[in-house]
Amino acid sequence: MKNLQSTKTLNNGVNMPGFGLGVFQVEDGEELIEAVKTAIHIGYRSIDTASIYGNEEGVGRGIQLGLKETGLRREDLFITSKVWNADLGYESTLKAYEDSLKKLQLDYLDLYLIHWPVEGTYKEAWRALETLYREGKVKAIGVSNFQPHHLDELLKHAHITPAINQVEFHPKLTQNTLHTYLKTHGIQMEAWSPLMQGELLQHPLIEELAKTYSKTPAQIILRWDVQQDVITIPKSTKPHRLKENADIFDFVLSDVDMERISDLNENKRIGPDPDNFDF
Ligand SMILES: NC(=O)c1ccc[n+]([C@@H]2O[C@H](COP(=O)([O-])OP(=O)(O)OC[C@H]3O[C@@H](n4cnc5c(N)ncnc54)[C@H](OP(=O)(O)O)[C@@H]3O)[C@@H](O)[C@H]2O)c1
Repeated sequence: MKNLQSTKTLNNGVNMPGFGLGVFQVEDGEELIEAVKTAIHIGYRSIDTASIYGNEEGVGRGIQLGLKETGLRREDLFITSKVWNADLGYESTLKAYEDSLKKLQLDYLDLYLIHWPVEGTYKEAWRALETLYREGKVKAIGVSNFQPHHLDELLKHAHITPAINQVEFHPKLTQNTLHTYLKTHGIQMEAWSPLMQGELLQHPLIEELAKTYSKTPAQIILRWDVQQDVITIPKSTKPHRLKENADIFDFVLSDVDMERISDLNENKRIGPDPDNFDF
């Protein structure tokens, strides 16, 4: 990735920006609208939301304002949303997609994901995503929080291989087995909570490397993601952090330092375990 707008080509030929903005835990309202709009001004082209975040309307408003003020077109952006667990099923997922579009004030999404692998319902939901894709209503379809065994099961029945698996990924959770599995199957890995929601920013090694490279701790971690070809969507609503997080394309972490960061792995999650969640 050379810059904020560099893309990765997914397994269906669609180009997705390698870096984007996440909006989990941002309430619908002015702060959110400003953040989305500001991100577009700064040069972000990818925005990640979900129906469960309850903020699709604000994201949509931020997108409209961002497009108007920058003169960009809808197709210059890459918008992701996700179907929530309660809506997994064939008809219910089709309906959830239409609801998300309406809230976002969009006529298509670039990427639609199954948010969590709820046993018993994710296969029917995948059939719905395949329908949406075949009908040209969405540019790419994928999953989130799927372990290899969920993907094995899905792929037994699927006609289309997911383009993306969006999972928790940061230096304390490097997901090596899953990452290798995804590469083997041509599924792009995307990192959620890349900063471990801020918890890693005071880690001594990350602070040491920040000094060495004259960068901030957040930039060191996000650069580590990008250098592994993992699509990354850090969240911030603060303009100076939106800029800071995106300013990671003017330096390269050495192989040794990449390894030192990866060695922080403890298989430690900040979010739920996909094999043991009850929502
Ligand atoms: N698929 C899933 O199940 C799933 C689950 C969780 C998240 N996600 C997606 O992944 C995105 C990112 O994950 P996340 O929001 O959980 O966590 P994150 O991006 O790892 O961390 C966000 C936190 O770090 C702070 N922060 C951001 N940039 C910073 C910087 N440069 N310096 C200091 N602090 C900084 C933010 O605060 P401020 O806002 O105050 O700057 C916020 O508190 C989400 O927004 C969402 O789109 C998906």
